[in-house]
Amino acid sequence: MQRLDRLRQLLKEEQLEALYVTDLLNVRYLTGFTGSAGAVLVTHDEAYFITDFRYVTQANKEVTSAKVVIHQQGVDQEVQKLIEQDQIRTLGIEANQMNVSQYLKIQKLFDLDIKPTDALIEKLRQVKDQEEIAIIRQACEITDLAFEHILNFVKAGVTELQVANELESFLKNKGASSMSFDTIVASGERSAMPHGVASEKVIENGDMVTIDFGCYYKGYSSDMTRTFAVGSVSDQLREIYEIVLEAHNRVIAGTRAGMTGQEVDALARDYITEKGYGQYFGHSTGHGLGLDVHEMPAVSSRSETVMVENMVITDEPGIYLPGIGGVRIEDDLIIKENGVESINSSPKELIILTEGEA
Ligand code: GLY
Ligand code: MN
Repeated sequence: MQRLDRLRQLLKEEQLEALYVTDLLNVRYLTGFTGSAGAVLVTHDEAYFITDFRYVTQANKEVTSAKVVIHQQGVDQEVQKLIEQDQIRTLGIEANQMNVSQYLKIQKLFDLDIKPTDALIEKLRQVKDQEEIAIIRQACEITDLAFEHILNFVKAGVTELQVANELESFLKNKGASSMSFDTIVASGERSAMPHGVASEKVIENGDMVTIDFGCYYKGYSSDMTRTFAVGSVSDQLREIYEIVLEAHNRVIAGTRAGMTGQEVDALARDYITEKGYGQYFGHSTGHGLGLDVHEMPAVSSRSETVMVENMVITDEPGIYLPGIGGVRIEDDLIIKENGVESINSSPKELIILTEGEA
């Protein structure tokens, strides 16, 4: 079923005559529009894509599933006209996306019943089609190549920022449009910071280095983490590396369609807890991945979402020891009926780069 038809089915269930789609990723998902300003009004019989003068050419080229409307006085004003024209009486809005002042504005402007909706399109986006999966695979492929490249670049004496810049320019040269989040390069004690974005710190011999990075490629994101050692690292760091790797592998071996996010999370969490490091693993095991780098489904201890074939999730357990260092290993996985496929091919055995000159 086409995306708009699947959405219309949900509108029926929610007893809505139309949905005002203002989240740009959702706009892209429904229409293919890749620009940075536009909205969609979906009714049971029509779909309108509303944008401004700057995007006339692009919209006419990219948007085939909706009527293109160029507004003169503002998107909301144009939507108000369409609502009147099509005699819409109940309109859904994307509650997660709209801020309070936008809401107050349309409340004044629109003369109809406005109902907040909860992530309707985000729920559709969870399950990828084959075209989306093919693009995510390509995004992961260049991500793997970037990791291979960076292993030849990292040595004692370079800064985390130099590593991030090298990684980012490599990815852009391979076709990435941007990074999917600020590149994390966390070395030494900083590797105990789960989101230690690259800093001016110089990488030293004896450091564990965690690199967590991803890119946008043709609109879709990748997200991968590897941790490796520069020179010899302590026994404790090696121990937690092996525990995190086993936890990560347990998710790959044990996940399949039909499990809840909570059950997937437990595959990693229970093992890390059993090994005595539960309190040092304070984030979710994973998250959905697609047009957004963090999207539904959640793969956390609270997630009751059931895994469905062709969802794409991350598998990223970690252990972080303050003042000592940390380890995280992350792959992107496609959910299959009887298991998962990991899309990344970068090695996971502990890599120890030979000591360089500091
Ligand atoms: N890779 C960063 C994160 O998933 O939070
Ligand atoms: Mn991630």
